[in-house]
Amino acid sequence: EGHEGSTHGEHTFQESKTLSGPRPEIVPWTRPMPVPPVLKPLVSTPKQEIYQLSIERTTAEILPGLRSPVLGFGGQFVGPTIRAKTGRKTLIMVQNKMDEAANVHLHGGHVPAEHDGHPKDLVDPGRTRLYLYPNSQQGTTLWYHDHSHGTEAQHVYLGLHGAYVIDDDSERGLNLPSGAYDVPIMLRDIQFDDSGNIVVFDDPSKRTVVLANGVPQPYFEVAARKYRFRLINTANQRVFKLRLTGDRFTRIGSDGGLFANSMEAEELTLSSAERADVVIDFSKYPVGSHVVLTDEVGGEILRFDVVRRASDPSRVPAVLRLLPALPLSTVDREVDLAFVFKPNERPDGVINGKVFDMDRVDFTVKRGATETWLIKSSDPTGVKHNFHLHLVQFRVLERNGGPPLPSDAGLKDTIPITAGETVKVQATFTGYTGRYVYHCHFLEHSWIGMMAQLEIVP
Ligand code: C2O
Ligand code: CU
Repeated sequence: EGHEGSTHGEHTFQESKTLSGPRPEIVPWTRPMPVPPVLKPLVSTPKQEIYQLSIERTTAEILPGLRSPVLGFGGQFVGPTIRAKTGRKTLIMVQNKMDEAANVHLHGGHVPAEHDGHPKDLVDPGRTRLYLYPNSQQGTTLWYHDHSHGTEAQHVYLGLHGAYVIDDDSERGLNLPSGAYDVPIMLRDIQFDDSGNIVVFDDPSKRTVVLANGVPQPYFEVAARKYRFRLINTANQRVFKLRLTGDRFTRIGSDGGLFANSMEAEELTLSSAERADVVIDFSKYPVGSHVVLTDEVGGEILRFDVVRRASDPSRVPAVLRLLPALPLSTVDREVDLAFVFKPNERPDGVINGKVFDMDRVDFTVKRGATETWLIKSSDPTGVKHNFHLHLVQFRVLERNGGPPLPSDAGLKDTIPITAGETVKVQATFTGYTGRYVYHCHFLEHSWIGMMAQLEIVP
């Protein structure tokens, strides 16, 4: 599912095969799930925090006992978590220590155009670039990843991804699980060949190894109490359908922060780049119990091991917050994601019939305008796509003329869309002027052109 339209052919990156022995076997539940360390600021004041972050080639133990060549922010696979705060600026000095250009995009961030990590704005090898994030938005779970033109799919696949959490003082009174009980979990898939080499571009359905914070089938020790998990799908091209053995999720938020109300769910659908903010209550389990997170296709991917009792002052209120009102929409647009197939050649990815051109403006939007976009996919092949809009969060009004899906709830910046579907979304373009992109967030699709540009004008 969501695996079609694979892009064979261009093995431009990491093509040297170095391993020839048998691939190390993954033994489930033998390694702990790492919690990515929180990046320490160089300077921290109530108004701003300043960080340093490198982009490097490094290695990571993904398969047991084997160090694989990967890319990492801060030299880590997955990158360190950046914890920001609503109303306090984040400045990050990003140094590119690789031998090729890269950059950083704050996915879901409300940031000025020059700091958005536009595909044309690269950090050249050996250079440093300053990114400024105002954190003027509500508390939420974002992530940061490479967005360099033509190389984003390789770079993200090889590890340039990390969590970025905005904490919001106005949400403190809710008393949701926090501190050590608030854990980001980045889920993604990866392909290894029979000798354990990472395979970069092949059929995405062969990416059968699922990682939780960089490790396949780890266990995670929990106390018998409530935890908040911020699930982030950092896979290039994958839709997870997640369940818990014998339990359900309490969903409290999505891409753009908390929902109006918490809700119970048996199953969570999470497409590439989407986030699900959930609470799992382990208090009903005796010490020694296991709860397994499963995926419809990937099977068992993470085991929670209840290892101790604990007191739990946290709550999950039924009412979480008021979502902003929907202003009157004054502009209607259509966005059509598709492939164009050509004989004996790689297909093109197009939006409204055109391959991405960073010198072309596809839509001109007035700052402050509220617009309704009809997202569709006229693809004749029945493939899935995954629409993402930079800068703003939108609301899904309708899917196929009916109500949105449960996974469309709340404030969103990314939604999956299957060929033949139509999804109506509404967004208000507040804040900044300048050029931003929107694209399919199946990165092998945006890489071959399924991306377009809007310019916000005063
Ligand atoms: Cu997650 Cu245009 O990106
Ligand atoms: Cu696509």
